[in-house]
Amino acid sequence: MHTILANTQLAPNVVRLDVVAPRIAEIRRAGQFVIVRKGRGAERIPLTIADADPARGGITLVIQAVGKSTRELAALRPGEAIQDIAGPLGQPTELLERGHAVCVGGGVGTAVVHPIAQSLRARGVRVTSIIGGRAKEWVIFEAELRALGAVIVCTDDGSYGRPGFVTQALADVLADGAVDAVYAVGPVPMMRAVAELTRPSGVPTIVSLNPVMVDGTGMCGGCRVTVGGETKFACVDGPEFDGHQVDFAELADRLGTYRLFEREALERHEGPCKIGLEQ
Ligand code: NAD
Ligand code: FES
Repeated sequence: MHTILANTQLAPNVVRLDVVAPRIAEIRRAGQFVIVRKGRGAERIPLTIADADPARGGITLVIQAVGKSTRELAALRPGEAIQDIAGPLGQPTELLERGHAVCVGGGVGTAVVHPIAQSLRARGVRVTSIIGGRAKEWVIFEAELRALGAVIVCTDDGSYGRPGFVTQALADVLADGAVDAVYAVGPVPMMRAVAELTRPSGVPTIVSLNPVMVDGTGMCGGCRVTVGGETKFACVDGPEFDGHQVDFAELADRLGTYRLFEREALERHEGPCKIGLEQ
């Protein structure tokens, strides 16, 4: 069992859970994730490890509560526990050796960008983070990223920072030159737009994909994606891939297929949905 150390609300439906998982805290690397099962028979949820504190034996998970299972996880209070946490899974981030990296985080994807920025900074790479949210209350991990380098905050409604999408700010940073790599995590349309922005200049662009995952071992095929014309499994070959090679249209299509099942599960759990599913 993995005891909850803290539950912190980061945004309207985004929660940070600090959870006891000493072995994972010790060996995890940026870009890796865990698969969490709250209790017996519960759905398996893949979550990126947003941070870790080996001294305390804790890992940080960030949960966007949009479905039945993620809402149950987000509702856990300190002292309660998660039955299983499997990991760390997936390939660690391929980190730039030196130079200037731009880390782009869209919404809850900002939590995934955080450990990448941390690891880049630790090896002496200059980090500029561009993070975005629908409005001020949706901007997360700003203080943590400011501790690692320059941060440009964007909001869709202009309520905080620069008005507009993160991609508009990225276009300006790219125009200034001297960018050696871009790491982008967020909604599929955002990652696709980032990859299109960097394609003409060929700046290496790493994206973290979020297909539906089941076993997390490369056996079930649930997380199949196409990269450079080849089939890859995000759980074992990724979750990070060359953004210029990813078939984003296929990924969006496959995610859309599962959205209906998730809505039905939520309605069985809580009655008819009053919200649109955001993922
Ligand atoms: P959101 O829809 O609120 O968007 C966040 C920001 O992304 C926006 O403020 C904007 O700056 C940017 N953005 C959105 N659409 C864009 C577009 N078409 N072009 C350019 N920029 C755009 O995000 P959210 O609701 O917080 O959702 C975050 C997404 O990140 C979810 O879809 C989730 O599945 C995904 N995610 C991915 C991973 C991963 O490992 N790949 C992990 C966690 C979350
Ligand atoms: Fe089953 Fe990746 S989650 S193959």
